[in-house]
Amino acid sequence: MQVIKNYVEEHRQRFLDELFELLRFPSVSADPKYKGEVLKTADFVADKLKAAGAEHVEVCATEGYPIVYGEKMKDPTLPTVLVYGHYDVQPPDPLDLWHTPPFEPTVRDGKIYARGACDDKGQFYMHVKAFELMMRTETLPCNIKFMIEGEEEVGSDNLGKFVSQNTERLKADVVLISDTSMLSMENPSLETGLRGLAYMEVEVQGPNRDLHSGVYGGAVANPATILCQMIASLHDENNHITIPSFYDGVIELSAEERKALNDAPFDLEEYKNDLSVEEVWGEKGYTTIERTGIRPTLEVNGIWGGYTGPGAKTVLPAKANAKISMRLVPGQDWKKISDLFKKHIESIAPKSVKVKVTAHHGGTPYVTPTDSIAFQAAFRAIEEAFGKQPVPTRGGGSIPIVALFEQELGIKTVLMGFGLDSDNLHSPNEKYDIFNYYKGIETIPLFHKYFAELSK
Ligand code: BES
Ligand code: MN
Ligand code: MN
Repeated sequence: MQVIKNYVEEHRQRFLDELFELLRFPSVSADPKYKGEVLKTADFVADKLKAAGAEHVEVCATEGYPIVYGEKMKDPTLPTVLVYGHYDVQPPDPLDLWHTPPFEPTVRDGKIYARGACDDKGQFYMHVKAFELMMRTETLPCNIKFMIEGEEEVGSDNLGKFVSQNTERLKADVVLISDTSMLSMENPSLETGLRGLAYMEVEVQGPNRDLHSGVYGGAVANPATILCQMIASLHDENNHITIPSFYDGVIELSAEERKALNDAPFDLEEYKNDLSVEEVWGEKGYTTIERTGIRPTLEVNGIWGGYTGPGAKTVLPAKANAKISMRLVPGQDWKKISDLFKKHIESIAPKSVKVKVTAHHGGTPYVTPTDSIAFQAAFRAIEEAFGKQPVPTRGGGSIPIVALFEQELGIKTVLMGFGLDSDNLHSPNEKYDIFNYYKGIETIPLFHKYFAELSK
């Protein structure tokens, strides 16, 4: 531990400067206008992996953005850890809500503000620096492989193919990912699961053109109204989702498991204060922790139609649209759920409009076993670095590719995230605590150490 602390202390400023350099690239995968910048980011990551001591570093081309690969194979008899992360980020919009520009990292109150600070640049880069540390101090206790992709925020379309075509190169004993959250720095936690996802789009078409709302309003169905009515009907009075068969197969937790989950130190008042909401909301019969961890949900991500410009325009829009996503839990299949959603919307749409329902991407839920060597290694590493045992929690977010790692490579994933749910992921003013960044760099070598020890 002292070796680790000394190295981090000695290279503190450079570790931060390099992360800032990485954060200055606007690597937004969703928007083609950033293409050149996304590609430059991949090269930057490859250069830093090389500089840290990785071999066979390659920027692997795909039909979309490249995957950066690098490895250090010390000895084939040692266990191998495959580190996964993503160098792409979410779009920074709405820009006017940022206090400082999203791609000019700024420190305020000990926190780095920038798009990608936590998700996932600040987190995957800890692994690059921890690797450098282990190489320079000659303490790398296992083999290590890096796979850092550039399309996570848009559904990892090309990673699946890359993984299935490179099963030999990616052969490892465990996947290690830092792209999730902890409860707090005082209450370290380890996520044991990720939810799945089904992402849909609905288009409601009314009349063949926009109409004068005085001349036609009241006599022709307004697609915006119809869309809102349909969306509102997707939850009942207990906030259960009303799509027939939606909950079929959902794995319920035992009373014991639910109790363990709810024992996690979680302060509802603080949660409400942080979000400036008077009351929380959700499915009857479940706590906030359960609603975001073990229960499926349905959310409108965006809704539009008609006139949204300045001033007023009296118009009955011809069309209205919504993007709707559902978070899924073990027992649910995203393709099946996408079909159920489509059928249901089509069945409740009135004849006065036409609806078109399309599926975007999806993802399978994942639960990691807590009795594995890798989970135990992460547990001990956090315990040693934080001086406190981590609490197992279920994360609300999704990393769809994790289920595929198990399918294609036959290995489990450990989710050792150091972010906080309140770090404004995907929101304006995304941040990452400098303390978490260094804490992560200290914890990661301990994971490798314990994983190698326990694998013997
Ligand atoms: N890092 C997040 C996932 C996450 C965040 C998991 C916090 C647990 C806690 C990841 O980058 C992400 O945003 N995933 C997307 C899914 C993807 C298909 C766009 C998500 O969860 O919405
Ligand atoms: Mn992420
Ligand atoms: Mn994300």
